[in-house]
Amino acid sequence: MKLLVINGPNLNMLGIREPDIYGKNTLADLYELIEEYCKGRGIEPEFFQSNHEGDIVDRIQQAYGKSDALVINPAAYTHTSVAIPDAIKAVGIPAVEVHLSDINAREAYRRLSYTSEACIATIAGKHFQGYMEAIDLLIGHLKG
Ligand code: DQA
Repeated sequence: MKLLVINGPNLNMLGIREPDIYGKNTLADLYELIEEYCKGRGIEPEFFQSNHEGDIVDRIQQAYGKSDALVINPAAYTHTSVAIPDAIKAVGIPAVEVHLSDINAREAYRRLSYTSEACIATIAGKHFQGYMEAIDLLIGHLKG
C-alpha cells in the first residue's frame, strides 16, 4: 500500500511552535515514527509538507492513480479551505484527517472542519499517535 502523508502550514515548525499544545517533537521525529510503523506492515509512506494551499491541492492531484491512501493534517486550512476537500474527493483516495490537538476543545473557529466531509474519519487530540491510528483505519478500510 502506498500511503501519502500530508501536513499543512506551520507543521514544519513542530518542536518550536507552541510546544504546550503541539509537543516538543519535530516533524522529522513524526516521519521517523511513521516510517517505523509502516515497516513490516507492507506500507510505503511518502511525506509532503507545505505552507501553501495550492501546493497541497497540487500534491493531492498528483497522487491520483499512484497513492492508495491519504493521511492529512491540513492544519489551519482545515477551517478555511474548500479546495482541499474538493481535491480529496476529486482523486477518490480514501483519506483520514488528523489533528495533533483536540480541535473541538479549543477556540470556536477550530470546531469547523471543511476537510472532514471528504474523509472517512477524523482523529484529533492524540498527538503523533493519531497518525498511527489513521494508518490502521486506512488499512482496515482497504481490506474492506
Ligand atoms: C492542527 C489544529 C489546527 O486548528 C491548527 O491550525 C494547526 C494544527 C493540529 O494538528 O492540532 O495548525 O491541525
